Amino acid sequence: QVGQKANEVRSAVRQKIDDRRAELEAQEIQKLLNDPHFDATLPALETRAGSLHPVTLITEHIEDVFRAMGFYLLDYPEVETEENNFEGLNIPATHPARDMQDTFWLNDGNLLRTHTSPGQVRAMAEYKPPFRAIFPGRVFRYESTDASHEHTFHQVEGLMIEKEISVANLIASMKTLISEVLERDVTIRLRPGYFPFVEPGFELDIQCQVCHGNGCSVCKKSGWLELLPCGLVHPNVLRFGGLDPEVWSGWAFGLGLSRLVMMKYQIEDIRHLMAGDIRFISQFRKG
Ligand code: PHE
Repeated sequence: QVGQKANEVRSAVRQKIDDRRAELEAQEIQKLLNDPHFDATLPALETRAGSLHPVTLITEHIEDVFRAMGFYLLDYPEVETEENNFEGLNIPATHPARDMQDTFWLNDGNLLRTHTSPGQVRAMAEYKPPFRAIFPGRVFRYESTDASHEHTFHQVEGLMIEKEISVANLIASMKTLISEVLERDVTIRLRPGYFPFVEPGFELDIQCQVCHGNGCSVCKKSGWLELLPCGLVHPNVLRFGGLDPEVWSGWAFGLGLSRLVMMKYQIEDIRHLMAGDIRFISQFRKG
């Protein structure tokens, strides 16, 4: 009986509360309707869901592709030693190839990494062969900017260390990478390219996806875009990493992520990527 009573009391109290709430709400609405400044026809306030930066979207996609192929995903510092950025990659102080990469030097003798390749030196010191790894990240060059050059941009470096790696392995892997990432068939061409830390070295170009080969500001009217420098790891780099080049071999690539983003989304000016304009970066949603 007591329980029954308690239930009755509870529903009576609940009813009172509900009635009173409805009354107050009605009053509030009436008040708004009487307010000459209130416009019930205005759209409701938008709730803003965040979105990911296009570089982040593509980076995550590439990470998925490579993780599925058994690659480690590594993260290395943006401030590097001169040794990791240059010497360890077969670019001694007096080497003319230093001029290929304009550098931001810090007062302590370190520098902002000019490419993600110093990760090769770090990875070889850190892991026992055989191994395969990618390391994406921001890189910096002391450059004047235009539609296709930025002082800060993104690369993904890839490194595979195995026995008996050949150029055929390299080309097959690069083809998989590009078709997986761009999710379409793309015309590519391979040219010899010089980088002190690979031998032989190549420049892999893709047909410009902005103008489809007709020539535009992004591809400097050539119809082609240098996207993927790559090659077989130079014996000196293996040696510097403590590996015997008679036993171990490898390939490496340095993918220009910012350019890839521009190709994928047909962005005509690289400076949009770092400008931080919300109208630009909110256009790229996941999915
Ligand atoms: N690190 C080179 C650059 O930024 C690219 C590269 C990476 C070339 C790996 C060959 C192999 O210019």
